[in-house]
Amino acid sequence: MMPKRTTAEWQEIRDQYIPQGVGNGNRNIAKYGRGAELYDIEGERYIDFAGAIGTINVGHAHPEVVKAIQEQAENVIHPGFNVMMYDSYIELAKQLTEITPGEHAKQTILLNSGAEAVENAVKIARKYTKRQAVVTFDRAFHGRTNMTMGMTSKVKPYKFEFGPFAGELYKAPYPYPYRKPDDMSDETYEAFMIEEFERFFLTTVAPESTACVVMEPVQGEGGFIVPPKRFVKYVEEFCKKHGILFVADEIQTGFGRTGAFLASEHFEITPDFVTLSKSLAGGVPLSAVVGRSEVMNEASPGELGGTYAGSPLGCAAALAAIDVIRNENLNERAEVIGEQIEAKGKAWAEKYEWVGEVRRLGAMVAIEIVEDRKTKTPDKMKAAAIAKAANASGVLLLTAGLYGNVVRFLPPLVMTDEQLEEGLEKIASVFDDL
Ligand SMILES: Cc1ncc(COP(=O)(O)O)c(C=O)c1O
Repeated sequence: MMPKRTTAEWQEIRDQYIPQGVGNGNRNIAKYGRGAELYDIEGERYIDFAGAIGTINVGHAHPEVVKAIQEQAENVIHPGFNVMMYDSYIELAKQLTEITPGEHAKQTILLNSGAEAVENAVKIARKYTKRQAVVTFDRAFHGRTNMTMGMTSKVKPYKFEFGPFAGELYKAPYPYPYRKPDDMSDETYEAFMIEEFERFFLTTVAPESTACVVMEPVQGEGGFIVPPKRFVKYVEEFCKKHGILFVADEIQTGFGRTGAFLASEHFEITPDFVTLSKSLAGGVPLSAVVGRSEVMNEASPGELGGTYAGSPLGCAAALAAIDVIRNENLNERAEVIGEQIEAKGKAWAEKYEWVGEVRRLGAMVAIEIVEDRKTKTPDKMKAAAIAKAANASGVLLLTAGLYGNVVRFLPPLVMTDEQLEEGLEKIASVFDDL
């Protein structure tokens, strides 16, 4: 039985029994969520612009997802796929091969977390190519396990004093259009970054030693950085030319977030592997690697899997979430939500010199906070103050970015126009009061 306590009592117990290393953006105690709103145990309402860091694209407690979980729980909670198969794993594996780009034969394995999916993509890529090097990018984020910490780029708080990391992990340059040199046109910058990417394979690691390049089509934790399409397509071509497997890490960009099932669609790329998690299962822990059959099938029986990997509750929730995204046109809705946040952000940019840039792909929207637009000096303190004040005024909002100065929006895609307007008005008041 859950004891009844006040928020202050829960906070005190939390601080005693849970380490501070597990961060909390908002220290109130969530009681229930519906759609784009959360309520705490005191009855306070929050408009959710964080979506559990991009996990709740179909909204909190979507009735179809809840029904699917309940039905699955009544049938069987966990036979363990390695012990006895079940239909929801098999059906989801099939549907994910249909959702991901490319007409080639594909297979899927299901896992628990995003980091675990990324690790498995690397594991399979190494096995297939018989090569060891793994290339990720500046400002990348791929998780908190040893391998994925090594693949991640931001040192504090993700890596500092947690090493040593796995070997043969390298970081290639990734464009940051907002911070390109002032005297470079967009076109020159794109060409320059492509040259830098090529040069990296001369100075740092040989293409023929490289098993895979793992790329976020839009960087998430790195600050919602949208790279030029030409660069992404070049990376794909380079991989193809050198027999390197190209992995799109769509853990944050996937499942409707950018206005398409996968952000890869915007860049017109066909990755060899896609990693998925977060909104895959409407909030239930689940992740996936979907890849070329000939590559995925390289590992022998028993080499892949895990006790809870592909839990039936997650599979049932994911199958329901896929239907919800389709039936409620959430990909289209993402674009509408993104446009409205962008419009508001642009109005703020006219008013405040410290709004450096508003950028987005679909409903993955960022506002980069700087001291002023001329120097572009990152203002981490102001971004943190915005997130804190927004939380205090009933809006869940997060920051991101290498410099911690990006306010990021990941609202559930079922957010209504009224909720969106109300939430943005509250953020406008926060901006006014700074
Ligand atoms: C692009 C990307 N990859 C991997 C991960 C790691 O996922 P998890 O926290 O589920 O391990 C994240 C989490 O934010 C992510 O955004």
